Amino acid sequence: MTQTTRNPASASQQAKVRSPRKDLGLLRGGIAVLDFGGQYSHLIARRIRALGVYSALLPFETPVAALKEMGVKGVVLSGGPSSVYGSGAPHPDKAVFSGAIPVLGICYGYQLLVQAHGGDVKRASRREYGKSSLKITERTSIFSGIDDRSITCWMSHGDSATKLPRDLVPIATSDNSPFAAIRSADGLQFGVQFHPEVVHTEHGDEVLSNFVFGVCRAERKWSMEGFLEDALDELKQTHEGRVLCAVSGGVDSSVTSVMLDKAMHERLQCVFIDTGLLREGEGAEVSKFLKEDLGVPLESIDASKRFLDALRGVSDPEKKRKIIGKVFADEFEEYARKKGPFRYLAQGTLYPDVIESGQTSAPASVIKTHHNVGGLPKDLKLELIEPLRELYKDEVRALGSLLGLPAEVLRRHPFPGPGLAVRIIGEVTPEKVRMCRGANAIVEQVMREEKLYDEVWQAFAYVGDDRVTGVLGDERTVGTQVTVRVVQSVDAMTADWYRMPHTVMERISSRITNEVDGVVSVAYSISSKPPATIEPQ
Ligand code: XMP
Repeated sequence: MTQTTRNPASASQQAKVRSPRKDLGLLRGGIAVLDFGGQYSHLIARRIRALGVYSALLPFETPVAALKEMGVKGVVLSGGPSSVYGSGAPHPDKAVFSGAIPVLGICYGYQLLVQAHGGDVKRASRREYGKSSLKITERTSIFSGIDDRSITCWMSHGDSATKLPRDLVPIATSDNSPFAAIRSADGLQFGVQFHPEVVHTEHGDEVLSNFVFGVCRAERKWSMEGFLEDALDELKQTHEGRVLCAVSGGVDSSVTSVMLDKAMHERLQCVFIDTGLLREGEGAEVSKFLKEDLGVPLESIDASKRFLDALRGVSDPEKKRKIIGKVFADEFEEYARKKGPFRYLAQGTLYPDVIESGQTSAPASVIKTHHNVGGLPKDLKLELIEPLRELYKDEVRALGSLLGLPAEVLRRHPFPGPGLAVRIIGEVTPEKVRMCRGANAIVEQVMREEKLYDEVWQAFAYVGDDRVTGVLGDERTVGTQVTVRVVQSVDAMTADWYRMPHTVMERISSRITNEVDGVVSVAYSISSKPPATIEPQ
């Protein structure tokens, strides 16, 4: 699973079947991450890119000959859920350990390295999970320039190396292991039991940087300026034909539309479908910054009645998602037929949607149908253009900034494709939409005013069918209860409820009950994910 975008039309299912991976060409001079299904595989690539060196995920079994042909400067073996001694455990091409290309094994990757050199890996007597103290015993190569003798690092493993072969040398220890980090005698292969890519590891970036520049001798060639220039050139060379792009106001589709506008303004048509389930003022804002300020050819369609009609009487969350996806696809198709012909469809698909991490693990069970809210109609037979398909979210933000998108748009919290429908428990009625929208606007406004908006992953409010008793003046009244939910997260896979200052809670609560008609009570959600999810539906 990946982070979300708020593009209702993002059709990751389609993304998986098409076109050769262009990212492979970019890997010349870069670092390949062989993906063994670890939860941090994407994070490794992101961190390396942030150092200015291109990095991409490849299937764990990619042959070394192919890596050489791609011109990669080094290989990282990711973590993963398996045990190296287990039957059916994923193993890389043996030649990875021949010394021809520098290697850094992380966690499971470290265990593979130990095993491949003839050492022993066994189930540890004690699982090591969370923060741990690492004592560096050799402050050269990957630890060079790190003056602290002991650093905090992030561990997450159930197996440990119990015996090292002679050609592997320990370079750091932890409370649990005398070989928490190792190197090969020739100084080209490294293994770390901890996760340098995780923010909780002190000097993690330096460890990666030492490997990338010191060991692999990679050069800083990856920048958003360079990417933008190449991508615009490529888009300009796209064959004749008109391009249709659905925008939602979210970061990904906005950046996509502005890029296309720069490359092929006269052939571009963008459409914004207002589902009636958007945040307050959203339609007007999108039109203002894309059309008026940046000159992107954009048409807005108010389809709110159609969406609300289709949702009448439906309270099952998955059914709601499906209906919204279907109505969206129908609206889109109608528009495309009316304003066509179009040859291309542009989408803001991101790298994690194209490359699903965990290539070795069984597909996770579907908790919510996130991205594939419905997909776009296939019988339009449009060719896809996805200018962001090599990029991570933070890179898209940097690109958006280069393209002149306003900072508020680039920093906006994720918003689900089905919009307020997933923040309304039970049937979606115009009355509940009004209360939900009003309360959401207040939460966002107060968080911005209190300078807390950028501190959290998402801040919103949801409504259900709870009716609670209140007093208005001297009168007894019955009204709705709204729940405020604010969470911190790094990737939406897990989230922690935000310990909100009481004064801010108070401001939010009194503004909601004063300003949103029909609401008499405000609650604050104090559940993390898991066991709850971020959105209530
Ligand atoms: P949950 O609620 O599963 O959400 O913890 C994780 C992230 O995904 C967003 N979300 C969605 N995004 N379509 C989307 O495009 C959806 O149906 C959907 N449901 C949840 C949610 O806002 C959070 O950022």
